[in-house]
Amino acid sequence: MKPRSTGRNTLRRLAVPLSEVFKVLHLKPSVDIMPQVCLSDVNPHILESTCTELREKYGQDKVHYQVCDVRDDAQVEDLFSKAKSSFSKLDLVVNNAGVVDEQDWLKCIDINLNGVIRGSLQGIKHMKKENGGSGGTIVNVASLAGVVPVSYSPAYAASKHGVVGYTRSWAGHPDMKTNDIRFLCLCPAFAKTEILKTKEGQLLGQKMAEEFMKKTGVMSVDQVTQAFTDLIETPDNSGSVMSVTLQGSKLLFQV
Ligand SMILES: NC(=O)c1ccc[n+]([C@@H]2O[C@H](COP(=O)([O-])OP(=O)(O)OC[C@H]3O[C@@H](n4cnc5c(N)ncnc54)[C@H](O)[C@@H]3O)[C@@H](O)[C@H]2O)c1
Repeated sequence: MKPRSTGRNTLRRLAVPLSEVFKVLHLKPSVDIMPQVCLSDVNPHILESTCTELREKYGQDKVHYQVCDVRDDAQVEDLFSKAKSSFSKLDLVVNNAGVVDEQDWLKCIDINLNGVIRGSLQGIKHMKKENGGSGGTIVNVASLAGVVPVSYSPAYAASKHGVVGYTRSWAGHPDMKTNDIRFLCLCPAFAKTEILKTKEGQLLGQKMAEEFMKKTGVMSVDQVTQAFTDLIETPDNSGSVMSVTLQGSKLLFQV
């Protein structure tokens, strides 16, 4: 079961490898024990329509959703405690909410970095053995902008560099080993989703961004979700940071 905040395209595609996720969790997706998933986003319309699609595929009772703004401590806490009490334990958390906004850079940092921190801390809390958990996996979605400079979007790059450093730092903490909590980080290049449709002011140089995008190309969301599946399927890989580009996936760091 995984509370997460994610874009609609990503959610649609993530619906495809959900059975893979169940396999990774060493659970057979049989009717009796099929794990449940809790989706979350600040946008109720995206959430509801995605949830409807997934329920048709996986069953009404397997897919839950709750609106949550990852900037709000209380909402994030409530999301996790409701998920934990409904499902009894958390196996997988994916912190995926993100925006590009150089004009409102405080918002950009608060969603992209602080949101990941809030979600990770809640994940740790509920997965810890002393709190009735039994370990699990926390995947933080950064970006290639988390490992290379991006001159047309410095605040976004800073937030994503933060996500990479935060994830690797927790992976090395001895408490995570004791509690069987695994931290992973995904760093995709451009992928065809809503986030690429930026408005005036969101970037410091729209033309620079367009030229860069033309040079590097834009991936399908399928390529990203395949890398996500590969990352979580690899055993004993806490601290792994994986890039995904049109050329393929690459392990950038192992802690
Ligand atoms: N698409 C790309 O090119 C690309 C590349 C690298 C990294 N990423 C990262 O992938 C992640 C998913 O983005 P996407 O590409 O699916 O874009 P997207 O815009 O489709 O999805 C982002 C989602 O985050 C949600 N969101 C925004 N603010 C929120 C908040 N305060 N609380 C909760 N949810 C909030 C949005 O409603 C949206 O559904 C982001 O972290 C993004 O930075 C995307």
